[in-house]
Amino acid sequence: MRETLEKIRESALQQIQSVGEILGLEQIRIRYLGKKGELTAVLRGMGALPAEERPKIGELANRVRADIEEAIAARQRREQAAALEKRLKEERLDVTMPGTPVPAGHLHPLTRVQRQLEDIFIGMGFSIEEGPEVELDYYNFQALNIPENHPARDTQDTFYITDNILLRSQTSAVQARAMERSKPPIRIISPGRVYRSDALDATHSPLFHQLEGLVVDRGITMGDLKGTLEIFAGKMFGEGTRIRFRPHHFPFTEPSAEVDISCYVCGGKGCSLCKGEGWIEILGAGMVHPFVLSNCGIDPEVYSGFAFGMGIERIAMKVYSIDDIRLFYENDGRFLEQF
Ligand code: PHE
Repeated sequence: MRETLEKIRESALQQIQSVGEILGLEQIRIRYLGKKGELTAVLRGMGALPAEERPKIGELANRVRADIEEAIAARQRREQAAALEKRLKEERLDVTMPGTPVPAGHLHPLTRVQRQLEDIFIGMGFSIEEGPEVELDYYNFQALNIPENHPARDTQDTFYITDNILLRSQTSAVQARAMERSKPPIRIISPGRVYRSDALDATHSPLFHQLEGLVVDRGITMGDLKGTLEIFAGKMFGEGTRIRFRPHHFPFTEPSAEVDISCYVCGGKGCSLCKGEGWIEILGAGMVHPFVLSNCGIDPEVYSGFAFGMGIERIAMKVYSIDDIRLFYENDGRFLEQF
């Protein structure tokens, strides 16, 4: 019996070492230690042994069982360590490998120009004020000295939601809101979308963008307006850019002007960009009309102010030499990629 046990141990240990895969270990365990296993069979036969032999054989059998179990466990640990090692090797991250490119877009040219404008005016101490695009007739027109039936409404026909509610036709609506909301000194710009019921063509769009400026304080003069716009023109279009005021009419400013800049391509000699004029029209401006000040609760005897408004598309078209406003809204990658 002793030899049988020794043989069982020897062949089991040998198999445990040589088995090819970890699954085979379980079969070996069953074969030797299972209910119908070889070792179990030997133990069953122990009843036939003389009584003094039994403890010794029992002890040996237990040792054989323990040895086989330990050999199986050791082999399992080795297999697991090897599998882990293999996985770590396979899954090692090579940080030097080229990554998957993530396509990155960039800002729309209108956004770029708007931010550039904002930066310039913020640098001069202006803050940004926002107003609603769905606006009351009162702020878009009446408070700005454009009563019902005023002919100025014709040039700014817009989309009406009710008789009193419309899509704002100009960021000037924010002027009235800003003056109502806060006391002078006021120094704000207000960029945003505006709407007009114009048919879409190369130079018109029913939706476009403006940037409004408003300064109200004691003793503000037209000189302040000129100085502010001169600095703006230099920063936006290049040092040395000159500005020119042409008399104009806006109901909410008095006096009013259309403001041109000297052409930044030809310097004023005349070229294709300025259409031979030497000057490029970029904005409307003027001194805030006393009626507008008092409509908004500001005493025109104490305070005065200036305002200006520019079309962001118009400026972007000039800066980037874009000849069709529709290109801004079509989202054609071939166009947008150029900026
Ligand atoms: N709101 C005017 C327009 O849309 C521009 C403007 C703004 C003129 C402020 C004067 C002062 O044409």
